[in-house]
Amino acid sequence: MQAAIVTGVSRGLGAALAAELLERGFTVLGIGRASNPALERASYAFARFDLADAARVDEALTPAFSRLAARKPASVCLLNNAATAGPVGTLGRLASSEVTSALMVNLAAVVTLTNLFCRVFADPAMARRVINVSSGAAQNTLPGEGVYCVAKAGMEMLTRALAAEQQAANFRAITVRPGVIDTDMQVFARSHSPEVLPSVELFKGFHRDGRLVAPAIVASKIVARLVVDDVEHGRTYSYQEL
Ligand SMILES: NC(=O)c1ccc[n+]([C@@H]2O[C@H](COP(=O)([O-])OP(=O)(O)OC[C@H]3O[C@@H](n4cnc5c(N)ncnc54)[C@H](OP(=O)(O)O)[C@@H]3O)[C@@H](O)[C@H]2O)c1
Repeated sequence: MQAAIVTGVSRGLGAALAAELLERGFTVLGIGRASNPALERASYAFARFDLADAARVDEALTPAFSRLAARKPASVCLLNNAATAGPVGTLGRLASSEVTSALMVNLAAVVTLTNLFCRVFADPAMARRVINVSSGAAQNTLPGEGVYCVAKAGMEMLTRALAAEQQAANFRAITVRPGVIDTDMQVFARSHSPEVLPSVELFKGFHRDGRLVAPAIVASKIVARLVVDDVEHGRTYSYQEL
């Protein structure tokens, strides 16, 4: 049995990744605030969890992770996909509570989930993989989206930290920058005024120029190239490479 754990399965890329994995015969554990009815079947389980509660990952998710590990899958892949694009605004205009909440979802929960994954799926016979869904925002500044950029940069360092620590031949940690996807996150980004989000024109341009790719297309490329195929430990993959 091949297993995958996907965060943020309610919509967008996460829903498409879970659907693609189920279609290919994977057993999938979805994690998030809400599931997606289209994913329901025997090979799908859902653990309800608000990733803003990152400090509670161990107590809340150890049972679901352990149930999956007890089935001794031949391979298991954690896809850290869930994220929020908020809070939007330049530094000086943000509420501390929104900054910390976003960092919990986009960074702290990614680290605590990965930590739990490494602890529970410790069997060296099992092929293990962590895929961190990042963004070009890890490298390029986006004025008004600084908190998101900080989290994605941190997430990419997590991939590198894992690659340095996890030396088993069947453990792989990678980052994917999935390109621009036609999801609610893009709708949200282009809905702001330039006063609040100085980089809004970039997002409007993606939409206007027809550059947004359907989530199902991105998901099928990620699964085929990065979940199923061999990958290079610690590497960052761009959409163009999929
Ligand atoms: N869209 C793009 O163009 C683009 C570009 C580069 C990178 N990415 C990355 O791709 C990934 C998927 O993005 P997307 O476009 O699919 O975003 P999306 O449509 O906004 O979906 C985000 C997902 O994350 C979940 N999520 C958000 N906050 C959560 C929380 N507190 N607890 C649990 N789940 C939470 C959402 O669940 P709820 O329904 O409960 O909110 C939803 O399932 C993200 O990592 C994003 O940074 C996207």
